[in-house]
Amino acid sequence: MMSVGETGGMEETLTIIKPDAVRAGNTGRIIAHLEDARFEIQAMRRMHLSRAQAEAFYAVHRERPFYADLVAFMTSGPVVAIALARENAVAHLRDVMGATDSTQAAEGTIRNLYGTNIQNNAIHGSDSPENAAIERAFFFAACDLVGR
Ligand code: CMP
Repeated sequence: MMSVGETGGMEETLTIIKPDAVRAGNTGRIIAHLEDARFEIQAMRRMHLSRAQAEAFYAVHRERPFYADLVAFMTSGPVVAIALARENAVAHLRDVMGATDSTQAAEGTIRNLYGTNIQNNAIHGSDSPENAAIERAFFFAACDLVGR
């Protein structure tokens, strides 16, 4: 049996189903899309982010003009954070998500199917293995992560 962190060639990432998608009742459809794409769900957490939590999660963007709106959006309702694993997980999640701007996202991607625009884009995905580790630690403790 494999233990967590020893995932046999697998890589780990993090996704957040954002308040627009949760509000629209698309949580289940997005989880099914991720399972169909062969992601393993290691941990999952539904929560309403505080302002301080949203600011901290997106701290890398704090100088960007969209930061205040982004924090307001991310605290506008519950989110579902999910720790995911599969081979090449970071790049594969980015493929399955589609472009940041939902209006530019390729047909059949999660943001194409469930997002609205560049901000209300249904889902977040880590952009590198290094950031995946940081973002996973933001939401989950090691004891929460359940391997196969
Ligand atoms: P995400 O991948 O979660 O990372 C940062 C988020 O900021 C992004 O998705 C969007 O929800 C939001 N955002 C709003 N405007 C922009 C923009 N111009 N460029 C990038 N991200 C933006």
